[in-house]
Amino acid sequence: MRTPLIAGNWKMYKTAAQAQEFVDAVRPHLDGADAADVGICPPFLALPAVVQAAGGSRIQVFAQNMYHADEGAFTGEVSPSMLLAAGAHGAVVGHSERRQHFGETDAALALKVPAALEAGLTPILCIGETQAEREHGETEDKLRHQIQEDLAEVDPDRLAQVVIAYEPIWAIGTGVVATPEQAQEAIAFVRALIAERSREQAEQVRILYGGSVNAENAPELLGLPDVDGALVGGASLKPDSFAAIVATAGG
Ligand code: 13P
Repeated sequence: MRTPLIAGNWKMYKTAAQAQEFVDAVRPHLDGADAADVGICPPFLALPAVVQAAGGSRIQVFAQNMYHADEGAFTGEVSPSMLLAAGAHGAVVGHSERRQHFGETDAALALKVPAALEAGLTPILCIGETQAEREHGETEDKLRHQIQEDLAEVDPDRLAQVVIAYEPIWAIGTGVVATPEQAQEAIAFVRALIAERSREQAEQVRILYGGSVNAENAPELLGLPDVDGALVGGASLKPDSFAAIVATAGG
């Protein structure tokens, strides 16, 4: 059985003080059942505040990006060992906003994903197609390409240590959510791609859905057989809606 993960990607929202306020408010809601893992992905500057405020709780903290090298002359970058030392559990890599606005490439991700695993961090690898790619029937080609390239250097026996987030770009921040059929079909396809390298790991790897998830649509999405949780943007910024989504996942 795969433990669902509900992770809140805050994107470029919240100062350290606002982050602490959020964690203080959400913690009491997470004290009950623990059938789901809970993650928060704050901006770098708020990461230590979330680690501290979440101490002793089951909240896992993820960065929103990471460079693959451990140290060096890479101005503006943050390394896996720095994240580990700050108390992070993992890092989101390959988010479509980084691919779109900051030139993140599959070649860079082919280095980042194994570097995270090597450091003992859990990578949350984001993949997904644009509206135009879906309309042209290219969704599966895009997903196949991203999975092949981004996970190329990951040992087949370690694939289940990666968390994959299927985030159709047309559903991100738009209020347009994938239909249950679209989400299930794409995520089952991604699992089949992993099975081409290891059947066993494909059974274990967690694949999340992301894109306009909220407390209202979460029950249907999280009830789908291949959907192992959600990467939540906007609805993760408020303690109430985030806690409601976690509760839906059995948390
Ligand atoms: P929204 O939930 O705001 O659509 O964002 C999804 C996302 O990009 C999570 O990484």
